[in-house]
Amino acid sequence: MPKDLWLNLATVDIQGRGLLVLVSPTETGDQIHRFVQRHGLSGVHHIAVLCEDVDEEAALLFAEGWKRTSVEPARDGGLIQWFIKNQIGQILELISRPSQSHNTFTCNNIRLLRSSEEK
Ligand SMILES: [Fe+2]
Repeated sequence: MPKDLWLNLATVDIQGRGLLVLVSPTETGDQIHRFVQRHGLSGVHHIAVLCEDVDEEAALLFAEGWKRTSVEPARDGGLIQWFIKNQIGQILELISRPSQSHNTFTCNNIRLLRSSEEK
C-alpha cells in the first residue's frame, strides 16, 4: 500500500451493536491528515451499513444517483465492502459479512477501500 494511505486504526465494539473505527494520520500530509485538515478532528469519513447483498443494495442506490468509487467491491477476509458516494461527496460503505463472522478489516480491505477514495 502506498505510504500516503497508511493510517493508525482502533476499532471499538459497542456492546455488540456496532463498531466504531477511529483513525489518525501516520505522518503530516498523508491522506488522513489532509482529510482532518478539510473536515476537522471530529470529521466523519463514512458510515457503514450492514447489508445481506452488497451488489443488490448498491444497484438500488446507484438508481438513486449514488456513484461507485471503485469498479467493484473489496472482497477479502470474509468481508465484502464498497464505498459509494452521493452528489455532495458523503460516503456510504456497504458491508456484508457472508460468513456471519465479526471479522475486522484486513490490510488488503483497507488498501482496496482507501485506494478508491479521492486523493
Ligand atoms: Fe468502514
